[in-house]
Amino acid sequence: MASRLFSSLQLRDLEIHNRIVIAPMCQYAANEGNASDWHLMHLGHLAVGGAGMLLLEATAVEPAGRITPGCLGLYSDENERSLQRIVEFIRANSKTALGIQLSHAGRKASSRLPWQGGSVIDIRQGGWRTMAPSAIPHAPAEPPPHALNVDEMRAIADAFCASAERAYSIGFDAVELHAAHGYLLHQFLSPLSNHRTDEYGGSLENRMRYPLEVFAQVRSRWPADKPLGLRLSATDWVGDGWDIEQTVAFSRRLVELGCDWIDVSSGGLSSVQRIVSSPGYQVSFTQRIRKETGARTIAVGMITEPRQAEDILSSGAADLVALARGMLNEPRWAWRAARELGGEVHGPKEYYRKPPSRTRGIFINARAEFR
Ligand SMILES: Cc1cc2nc3c(=O)[nH]c(=O)nc-3n(C[C@H](O)[C@H](O)[C@H](O)COP(=O)(O)O)c2cc1C
Repeated sequence: MASRLFSSLQLRDLEIHNRIVIAPMCQYAANEGNASDWHLMHLGHLAVGGAGMLLLEATAVEPAGRITPGCLGLYSDENERSLQRIVEFIRANSKTALGIQLSHAGRKASSRLPWQGGSVIDIRQGGWRTMAPSAIPHAPAEPPPHALNVDEMRAIADAFCASAERAYSIGFDAVELHAAHGYLLHQFLSPLSNHRTDEYGGSLENRMRYPLEVFAQVRSRWPADKPLGLRLSATDWVGDGWDIEQTVAFSRRLVELGCDWIDVSSGGLSSVQRIVSSPGYQVSFTQRIRKETGARTIAVGMITEPRQAEDILSSGAADLVALARGMLNEPRWAWRAARELGGEVHGPKEYYRKPPSRTRGIFINARAEFR
């Protein structure tokens, strides 16, 4: 039987050649939000590995929305120019669809780089004021964030739209909104971080309101023929937190608004979370969302084997699978998967040693096609 992993998928006017997605991965290698040579190397080499879609890392919609001073941004002309160079390189060398994850870190902003420990940077040491739905810090020892007022929330929603428009002008195929891992949109969803008493806090309906408004606004400003997806955390892994029941309700609303995929991750909101991870540990959430809401889903989390990915898709749990660490370990994972499952991958001509009709063997027995 033909491999599902290597079947194409139509998302609005975008055709993705196979179901393999490279998950968004922060590189902390930007300067004032600008992409660097590191991005060119990192994204460039991942893009020629044959995946159907490459999702760029969490990219801040305003400077204060960066997790760290090294995070990528798409809020200035300079940011836009620096990313354009990378998009042009990938376009010239790869057939992968290109998406970008737009994000605002909220109360998790102004942090040190992970390899410097990731702790909060004090304003006197170059940090900046963080913001959130309520003045509740991520960890008790951290300074409380500023509780956003409605005008400030509207300005951030506009910033999401402006970044999406910049992504369009650079030539991205797709946008994914980041509503997972304890960042701003997730902070609105979770009762642990949202203690507001206005129409944006309290009931589930109220907590969903702002993320849904942001989604709807970006949808109205992002071209109708291009897909817009969203990443969420299906659970906070904390009692009384955000959970899969609320996630299903939220997903239903996203489907009504025309969300093209739900990328199902988990955790990141609470410093007391207890995650029990094992291969495919988030797939049951993905399956439930897909089954109960009809959403297209992306499964992610400890997916490392082609057969495992194929089984996730053929069981009906997901429409796409995403790999992060698996791709860092094995950037040509799609070639191995094509070999093991009998699929076909796109590859760069520079790696071919013969005309395309006789390339079997060049990709070590994966069938290949010129880009
Ligand atoms: C280096 C690195 C950076 C990451 N940055 C992001 C990010 O920018 N946005 C995001 O939603 N998830 C991010 N993640 C999480 C991954 O996208 C993925 O969900 C997670 O690593 C689980 O998948 P895996 O088991 O295939 O690594 C990152 C993971 C890694 C390893």
